[in-house]
Amino acid sequence: MPAVGARPVELVQQCDIDGVGVDPVEIHIDRAMAAVEAAGLADRVTFHRGVMHDLAYEGGHFDFVWCRDVVKQVDDLDGTSTELVRVMKPGGRLLAYTTITTELLDDRDPEMIRRHLGTSTATSIDPIWRQRSGGQAW
Ligand SMILES: C[S@@+](CC[C@H](N)C(=O)[O-])C[C@H]1O[C@@H](n2cnc3c(N)ncnc32)[C@H](O)[C@@H]1O
Repeated sequence: MPAVGARPVELVQQCDIDGVGVDPVEIHIDRAMAAVEAAGLADRVTFHRGVMHDLAYEGGHFDFVWCRDVVKQVDDLDGTSTELVRVMKPGGRLLAYTTITTELLDDRDPEMIRRHLGTSTATSIDPIWRQRSGGQAW
């Protein structure tokens, strides 16, 4: 589970699960913890500083691994894939995906992406899309 924004809170609330998040950036962990505490979920969600290719969990630990918009940032993609599979229980589920934007998007696509994935040009790591958005989310 990621350690950014409201998504850990949404996952825990909507799926009625307990969870842990891993992120190498301290301020992301602090913000995620603040969101979790504000939602009254501190007894169900914890965060650890770390990286996905070296997780401090025993093998076969998790029922579900959720990873959004992170794999494009990792240095060691093979190690990350191996590690995510290692920590899952046999028969566990892994959802890892990354959103991208290209010139092929037409006028209707930004709204669809924002609605389903919560992604916005204003928060894109791609400076071209941030510039095009003029600082405004879709
Ligand atoms: C675009 S954010 C996505 C956050 C979250 N998954 C979401 O959907 O809201 C990317 C996050 O990946 C984290 N990150 C970067 N490299 C990482 C790594 N090797 N292992 C784990 N997280 C990493 C960043 O610190 C950042 O918090």
